[in-house]
Amino acid sequence: MTSTTADRATSASVFVVPDYDTLCDLVTNRIAALVHDKPNAVLGLATGSTPLGVYDRLARRHAGDGLDFSQVTCFNLDEYYPMDANSPHSYHHFMQENLFSRINCPRWFVPDGQPRGEAEIAHACRDYEARIAASGGIDLQLLGIGRSGHIGFNEPGSPPDSRTRLVTLHAMTRQDAADSFGGLGNVPRQAVSMGIGTILDAREIVMMASGAAKASIVQSAWTEDVADHVPASWVRLHPNARLCLDTDAASLLPHENR
Ligand code: GLP
Repeated sequence: MTSTTADRATSASVFVVPDYDTLCDLVTNRIAALVHDKPNAVLGLATGSTPLGVYDRLARRHAGDGLDFSQVTCFNLDEYYPMDANSPHSYHHFMQENLFSRINCPRWFVPDGQPRGEAEIAHACRDYEARIAASGGIDLQLLGIGRSGHIGFNEPGSPPDSRTRLVTLHAMTRQDAADSFGGLGNVPRQAVSMGIGTILDAREIVMMASGAAKASIVQSAWTEDVADHVPASWVRLHPNARLCLDTDAASLLPHENR
């Protein structure tokens, strides 16, 4: 495997807040401000437990303050493969349950995990990229970070110019998903994910991490060389990116990196 590296330069800024609730307030405020200022904003969204508090707050802003998503378009980062969109394990289902059943956003897309041939998968991936481009490109991409350093399902080794494609999941990623699938054997080995290049094309990136379990990978991503063995490190080179952390996730980050 060839490895791409850059240097340690970082354009992105780091925000550290006391706890998960404050972290979610911070990120929600940014997304709500964007949707308010640009009613037809294009959002890139993430799954995992980290953004759940943001989705709940956005839904409550919609219900309480009338935050309007009627002209917004959303693209999710990834989906397991193979995966039926209607399965309770699908990211499609996750987004429906946690956000889209609760807001008025008519256009939302999740990569398609239905099993099919290689050529058809490649075609669907190109379509996903084309749909993002046709929407005008992503205004704000929300990211979590996996313990392997992944963003979306771009595992170590994903190059910075990668686009939406079929990927193989890291053993740690499958292990982390085992409980929710009722055992490691049930966790798919592959996924369809936007690429690092797709993510870096977004006009703004907000990466969230919460809890002590993320402290070590946050430290690697933000203090070691920018390199494809820690995919999240590429976010540092984006001209308009923020890393938003609670104190537990930031606990191993030297003060000069904050
Ligand atoms: C999954 C998703 C990622 C997410 C990661 C972290 O692997 N594909 O987009 O960032 O989980 O999940 P959590 O927020 O639950 O730690």
